[in-house]
Amino acid sequence: MAYVEWTEELSIGIPQVDGEHQKLVTILNLLNEAVVMGKGTQIMGELLSQLVENTIIHFESEEQLMSDAEYPDLEEHQYQHQKLVEEVGTFKQEFDDSRQRVTHEMMEFLKFWLSRHIVVDDMAFGKYYKNCPMGLDENRD
Ligand SMILES: [Fe+2]
Repeated sequence: MAYVEWTEELSIGIPQVDGEHQKLVTILNLLNEAVVMGKGTQIMGELLSQLVENTIIHFESEEQLMSDAEYPDLEEHQYQHQKLVEEVGTFKQEFDDSRQRVTHEMMEFLKFWLSRHIVVDDMAFGKYYKNCPMGLDENRD
């Protein structure tokens, strides 16, 4: 079983966003696999870099979509994104400095970090998007 199982509960209903979230989940699962298999710090470092890079790319595209959809909570969301990027950036920095392997506790932190972003922050946008003009246009058959 995957470390983070992709379920309907994680889907916010916007294919582009869901696809990017799935990519982050995949990286997290690969990282956990590396932890479980006792892989070295180099591969862990590479996966963490991928997580940071894809997070930044994802937040940018999400903010663009929010702006296009005239999401009223964009500013608050941007602030949350900034905090999340700082958190994962600090995490990566600490990993680089310590030169130790990623531990199970560290994985739990990342799992919480990612699921909080999806379930708390993005779910609200998903609901808004479904009913905004842009979302309604997309869903029209
Ligand atoms: Fe997101």
